[in-house]
Amino acid sequence: MSKVLLVGDGAVGSTFANDLLQNTNLNELVICDVVKNRPLGDSMDLEDITPFTGSVNVHAGEYSDAKDADVVVITAGIPRKPGETRLDLVNKNVKILKSIVKPVVDSGFNGIFVVSANPVDILTTLTQKLSGFPKNKVIGTGTSLDSARLRVELAKKLNVKVEDVNAYVLGEHGDTSFENFDEATVAGKALTSYSEMTPEVLTAIESDVRKKGGEIIAKKGATFYGVAMMLAQIVKAVLENKEICLPLSAPITGQYGIKHDLYLGTPTVINANGISHVIEADLSDKELSKMQNSADKMQEVLAGVAE
Ligand code: 2OP
Repeated sequence: MSKVLLVGDGAVGSTFANDLLQNTNLNELVICDVVKNRPLGDSMDLEDITPFTGSVNVHAGEYSDAKDADVVVITAGIPRKPGETRLDLVNKNVKILKSIVKPVVDSGFNGIFVVSANPVDILTTLTQKLSGFPKNKVIGTGTSLDSARLRVELAKKLNVKVEDVNAYVLGEHGDTSFENFDEATVAGKALTSYSEMTPEVLTAIESDVRKKGGEIIAKKGATFYGVAMMLAQIVKAVLENKEICLPLSAPITGQYGIKHDLYLGTPTVINANGISHVIEADLSDKELSKMQNSADKMQEVLAGVAE
């Protein structure tokens, strides 16, 4: 029996629910939201796809339904408006997070938390602290979406299939993120050995990837397909015990010379236990200082919300 409880049935949550049902075998999906009737309407709508995806009990519920869930997914939060950074959301979304984590833990929940609400590195760190759960049982979507965006961009530029691009964005899912260009490969060849990938081109790609979320928000008001698919991949890996590696918000325990106790985007292997292990990416000195800068920025924000 596998059960997932989704907290936050906005565009991201709802799209995630749809992706999950289409990609994963599970028995029960419970949807919670502060907007009355929305989870009921959404579960009624979603159950209509189950004759084609496989039988799943999809229904609206409460935090107390987390009791026997394998995974609780938190997408709930105020989304970014055009022009806002993810960090601008911190106080509002920490408040919302606090109202969720306690009742979920009080239900007796003993599974894995997966967080995508922004600022995701901060909210993932706080989910672990507020829940008191072991660090491997709390995962954030981290820079998985940024990395997907980078792969899409490089595939277009080099005219290859996106599956042939192996490249990570690491650090904060936000303005201090950075591209791990020095170790990226395209069709098995170092990215930096492609003559068209001049430092100017790489800088432009980095900037475009970082701004893409904001650009989508400016054009259509929200981003959801990308992050929802990242969530579905993570939850599938947990439910089906797949040992997959993604750049996620994971607990930093001394990697990259970082002294702070927080979650940050790094390659991470996940399975039924949540985080199996964190992989410390090979970074050039320049990239290492960007990683440390991201950690310092997250620590500064965490210090401001601790009280
Ligand atoms: C994104 O990057 C808003 O964080 C979300 O699309």
